[in-house]
Amino acid sequence: MKRVVYPGSFDPITNGHLDIIKRALQLFDTVIVGVAKREEKKLLFSLEERVTLVKEVTKDLKNLEVYPFTGLLVDFVREKKAQAIIRGIRAVADFDYEFQMALTNRKIAPDIETIFLLPSQEFIFLSASLVKEIASLGGCVKNFVPEVVAEALRKKMGR
Ligand code: PNS
Repeated sequence: MKRVVYPGSFDPITNGHLDIIKRALQLFDTVIVGVAKREEKKLLFSLEERVTLVKEVTKDLKNLEVYPFTGLLVDFVREKKAQAIIRGIRAVADFDYEFQMALTNRKIAPDIETIFLLPSQEFIFLSASLVKEIASLGGCVKNFVPEVVAEALRKKMGR
């Protein structure tokens, strides 16, 4: 059984993340979404809120598991008995960071592969940071995130 981890901050989950999850489900028997705690980064949503939103928007998808994780990604991958990591790559701008992360993970865990997937073209420009900026300025994010996430953003922004 091929199991893969799709890790990220998911602050919050966007339609671009969902696109990658669906693509990964076509390639693997089980996809495990790992929501990173990321204490070093200032995030809008708490770990619990991010996990709840991911679970909510993926509840109709089969063969998908969602967990929070702290510590090293490769330890989480081993704990979940997965063989690989999926990351979405949007544009050249993502490449440096992703390349560095994938090769560092390979150095510390040579048995775990990183696989890059491309999202649908309509999501190439989309990022959780931009979605948060638009929401904070009162813009409409309904084309970028599922409705439940748009609602959570409105509440967070006090609108
Ligand atoms: O959605 P993001 O913020 O780009 O996700 C980054 C994430 C969570 C995948 C990355 O920061 C990570 O793997 N963090 C866990 C700690 C870790 O293993 N660090 C070493 C990576 S080389």
